[in-house]
Amino acid sequence: MGCPIFVPILLLWVTCVLAIQGEYEYDQDYASQILRLAKKDKDWLVSIRRKIHENPELRFEEHNTSTLIRKELDTLGISYDFPFAKTGLVAQIGSGSRPIVALRADIDALPLQELVDWEHKSKIDGKMHGCGHDAHTTMLLGAAKLLNQRKDKFKGTVRLLFQPAEEGGAGASHMIKEGALGGAEAIFGMHVDFTIPTGSIATISGPFVAAVCFFEAKIEGKGGHAAGPHTAVDPIIAASFTMLALQQLISRETDPLQSQVLSVTYVRGGTALNVIPSYVELGGTLRSLTTEGLIQLQQRVKEVIEGQAAVHRCTAYVNMKEEDYPAYPACVNDLTLHQHVERVGGLLLGPENVKVSSKVMAGDDFAFYQEVIPGCMLNIGIRNEKVGSVYSPHSPHFFLDEDVLPIGAALHTTLAETYLNEHQPSVML
Ligand code: NI
Repeated sequence: MGCPIFVPILLLWVTCVLAIQGEYEYDQDYASQILRLAKKDKDWLVSIRRKIHENPELRFEEHNTSTLIRKELDTLGISYDFPFAKTGLVAQIGSGSRPIVALRADIDALPLQELVDWEHKSKIDGKMHGCGHDAHTTMLLGAAKLLNQRKDKFKGTVRLLFQPAEEGGAGASHMIKEGALGGAEAIFGMHVDFTIPTGSIATISGPFVAAVCFFEAKIEGKGGHAAGPHTAVDPIIAASFTMLALQQLISRETDPLQSQVLSVTYVRGGTALNVIPSYVELGGTLRSLTTEGLIQLQQRVKEVIEGQAAVHRCTAYVNMKEEDYPAYPACVNDLTLHQHVERVGGLLLGPENVKVSSKVMAGDDFAFYQEVIPGCMLNIGIRNEKVGSVYSPHSPHFFLDEDVLPIGAALHTTLAETYLNEHQPSVML
């Protein structure tokens, strides 16, 4: 059963690790102290969030948002590297040595006209923080302040990623390519959730947000007079068969226990009552709770569109829109990190306020980080009927309960601090 010298060394190592971990016993007092500290910052947090909300910027154009974040970090005396992915930045707090944990916020807005009439509504027509990324950014800034105040309370390093272009631009993949993770061994992220009340969170292990891509197709035939269809090659008939055949990819080829979606969301063809057009365009989106499922679906969509067009004597050109909207992998939460979120969230908010997250067929580019290191993305509740925060993200009526801001800041802080102190390297013999 092994070398006799190895046994005492192993015992010593186990004793040391237990002693080190024992140094950091986390309880509700610890968590409520951080929550109290965060709540003291509420006015500051609200003012930052409102500034960002009033001045939304779209993917890779978040110049003013980025400037605001850097200005706040400068005031707090926190160092950062800039730029990453054009407008993004990474702040770093702690010793610079391992363990290193990353926290992520997305900073971009949506091309959406805000329809909420309130004092701090978007000042920019056609742009709105309709997905709560203004809150995500603010909560991470709040955590930066708390972690900086408490840097003697943890051993290791926190990297705070302020990331552009979550909405369709795959900003996370650019951040990774440019080294934003910087040796981090785990990453946490959070997204506001209008389905659960403020003061609660939801988390789940395994796949929970879909792999997503978009597609467009052009089906070319031969235009002609509608009175003589035999002289034309009708792309409208080809497109109609194509759209029906596409639906069978989910109903006939996908395991019923695996979740996939294929939606054709537009079809354009022809302008006159008596003319067969020369081409039809259509497009839509594909979703799968596994990345492999999406890759397979993409392949089959291409084959079906081209095949159906050919049967009807047309030619199809399929474009997966990779340049404009890169495919996102599925978000898959690491089991151990999910358990960490459950435990720490329970300390901070009470175990009754930690729910099981629903799976959704939306996408989030947090998945790119999870392809590189273990990660956990959680939902943080914002539902509050009293303030009207009852609309889904991407709705022009989306509204935030600003009470979430200190809660998110405290949660980021406790997740990182406890993670680092509980993952001290075993070389501390
Ligand atoms: Ni979002």
